Amino acid sequence: MRNKVTVVGAGNVGATVAQRLAEKELADVVLIDIVKGLPQGKALDLQEAAPIENHDARLVGTNAYEASEGSDVVIVTAGLPRKPGMSRGDLLTTNAKIVRSIVEQVAPLSPDAILIIVTNPLDAMCQIAFQTSKFPKNRVVGMGGALDAARFRSFIAMELNVSVESTHAFVLGGHGKTMVLLPRYSTVAGISITELMPQDRVDALVKRTRDGGAEIIGLLKTGSACYAPASAAVEMADSILKDKKKILPCAAYLQGEYDIHDLFIGVPVKLGKDGVEEIIEVSLTEEERAALKRSADAVRSLIESLDKMRL
Ligand code: APR
Repeated sequence: MRNKVTVVGAGNVGATVAQRLAEKELADVVLIDIVKGLPQGKALDLQEAAPIENHDARLVGTNAYEASEGSDVVIVTAGLPRKPGMSRGDLLTTNAKIVRSIVEQVAPLSPDAILIIVTNPLDAMCQIAFQTSKFPKNRVVGMGGALDAARFRSFIAMELNVSVESTHAFVLGGHGKTMVLLPRYSTVAGISITELMPQDRVDALVKRTRDGGAEIIGLLKTGSACYAPASAAVEMADSILKDKKKILPCAAYLQGEYDIHDLFIGVPVKLGKDGVEEIIEVSLTEEERAALKRSADAVRSLIESLDKMRL
């Protein structure tokens, strides 16, 4: 049976997600956007590349939700991206309204789907999607850590002149300034990077990763990153659709894990056909635990400000 994935938002991230899903033949794709003609045009353009790219995925672009019915996975990328000088939190109120209205429309048509949220500020948007969809917690998951880990792995590979395939990175916390990168659990061929480079280089790579999104925005000026975010979202969809049970850092709803209660935040999870099938807990040092708590507090304060505005 063919898989079906709906991608909401046919902008830079959404269109790239649709392209990667189709080219990997992971699913037929329904691409939805509020702008008339945009998803239709992008889907048709991608479909016309199929004979050259050798895939048989079908792509449909639409402004309505009917075509999304019965999706296995829904990937939400709609919303404003950051501009130079903006934090992900600055997008909060606008994107909260957008994500809520999308989930209200998409969830009843695909009641068994797994929702992958990409829109920023990521962890808070997951909370909105969870509340709005009323899906069980394992079927709402956010793409943040998978991107941060890919950025960290890229910088580790560049620094040590090794294949990215030999690298592994470990990230916890919110997708933002307070993310918690754990160098001692980040490895090349199983060896911690703390043994492979001096501390000042580890620190520099951690900082570059934490500022990875801003670095791209500073270069582009009129948009934010799309290729790596799309790859990370598709990596998650791939693990779900193929029931691969990959362990990836994702925003998941915590109920006591890592001493965090009733909050979406990035942790290592096992992703399979049921979505978040397990949350992996590792032992943390005092310092790491404190950094994770600071990150959770930052996410919680975004959510509280939404609650105050009744959004
Ligand atoms: N319903 C459907 N689509 C919408 C809606 C809505 N209510 N509101 C906005 N959109 C669409 C826009 O029309 C646009 O095509 O979302 C798309 C967003 O695309 P871009 O502006 O290109 O933004 P992009 O770079 O793709 O980022 C989208 O992902 O990584 C995050 O921070 C990023 O929150 C941002 C999101």
